[in-house]
Amino acid sequence: MTDQSRILIKGGKVVNEDCSVISDVYIEDGLIKDIGLNLQVPAGVRVIDATDKLVMPGGIDTHTHMELEFMSTKTADDFYTGTKVKREMESLVREKGINSFKMFMAYKDVYMIQDHELHAAFSACRDLGAVAQIHAEHGDLVAEGAKKMLSLGITGPEGHEMCRPEEVEAEATQRAATIAHATNCPLYVVHVMSKSAAKVVRHARQQGWVVFGEPIAAGLGTDGTHYWHQDWAHAAGFVMGPPLRPDPSTPGYLMDLLANDDLSVTGTDNCTFSICQKALGKDDFTKIPNGVNGVEDRMSVIWEKGVHSGKMDENRFVAVTSSNAAKIFNIYPRKGRIDRGSDADVVIWDPNRTRTISAKTHHQAVDYNIFEGMVCHGVAMVTVSRGKVVYEHGALYVTPGAGRFIPRKPFSDFVYKRIKQRQLTPTAVDREPYGGVVVRLPS
Ligand code: URP
Ligand code: ZN
Ligand code: ZN
Ligand code: ZN
Repeated sequence: MTDQSRILIKGGKVVNEDCSVISDVYIEDGLIKDIGLNLQVPAGVRVIDATDKLVMPGGIDTHTHMELEFMSTKTADDFYTGTKVKREMESLVREKGINSFKMFMAYKDVYMIQDHELHAAFSACRDLGAVAQIHAEHGDLVAEGAKKMLSLGITGPEGHEMCRPEEVEAEATQRAATIAHATNCPLYVVHVMSKSAAKVVRHARQQGWVVFGEPIAAGLGTDGTHYWHQDWAHAAGFVMGPPLRPDPSTPGYLMDLLANDDLSVTGTDNCTFSICQKALGKDDFTKIPNGVNGVEDRMSVIWEKGVHSGKMDENRFVAVTSSNAAKIFNIYPRKGRIDRGSDADVVIWDPNRTRTISAKTHHQAVDYNIFEGMVCHGVAMVTVSRGKVVYEHGALYVTPGAGRFIPRKPFSDFVYKRIKQRQLTPTAVDREPYGGVVVRLPS
């Protein structure tokens, strides 16, 4: 009998964000107990051969929506398959282990908040040591643009992109970064979808502002030309906000910035609605539930477009798929690293194998896949989550409810060290009071 709580991963190349080394990894009771060659391990442990494979930290998807009630319906994938008042934020941070808050500049009359509210929320985040996350789109312009498209008789999914062109995203990104800088609050821009918005993030970082940009699998792997597809259902499947961009050079550009640390982490914004749910907007694109898939395919898409293309190396891949997220959200090196004492979240990756993404074979509940037909190098052979094999050679071994919430502490060093150093109080010039005449204003 082999002991399933003790695993020796043998002969692989361990890849962290700063180095790669041929090494064995010994896992016991959910943790990485030891790494190195010729490890002394108890008899009866399960041995997994990882020769010619990469042994990497399990991916951290920074951005998903499971079981979300949104736009009159509920996401297809749940957790199994797939500013308010300051006091509430305080109790979430101090008592519940939450250290980030997402705010919306879009979805007018639903979630959208005004600049003065952003200012207050960012200030609260800074005081509490949380990361302010922003959905950056100019909500008023989106609403006006949508009215205009409908008045022109444009009711299909192409109207969704045309009512919110990329300058609408870029303007809001710049505004959010400016408010964050003014309040000395770190800013995390979720779903950076356009070249213009990515340039704003890059420029903010060049100025030394504490800003992180999150492109998502959809934006790195496909584009917005699909909104003009003749088949309504096909086109509607890609509707999300901010939209994918019709400029086909966008995914490659976002990947360049991700490879060079202008953008920092990758999520998916996985928020899936099946075609019959998308069809709520068959006569009016503003009623199509917004969201696309990504959670299952993120690692393969990024490997294919990032590493296989030669833009980034395996270490940068680890940085953008797990380590940077763990650092920003303050769970590093427990997560995002293969090291002694880290949680045994490990993926054994075959960089040479390929797979073709398809809704016919994916494990998600949603009935289509925006990456349909994409051939990706880089295939997960085995996935270990907290010491348990949960995926092996195509089969899933997961039970509903096995996932665990990880409470996170505020004031992550990675994010807040610079913020704390900059907490300078402006001082007034010491001068004699003005003694001259003051003009009289009419009463
Ligand atoms: O279209 C999207 N992005 N749906 C999910 C909600 C959000 O704004 O992140
Ligand atoms: Zn959003
Ligand atoms: Zn298409
Ligand atoms: Zn989202």
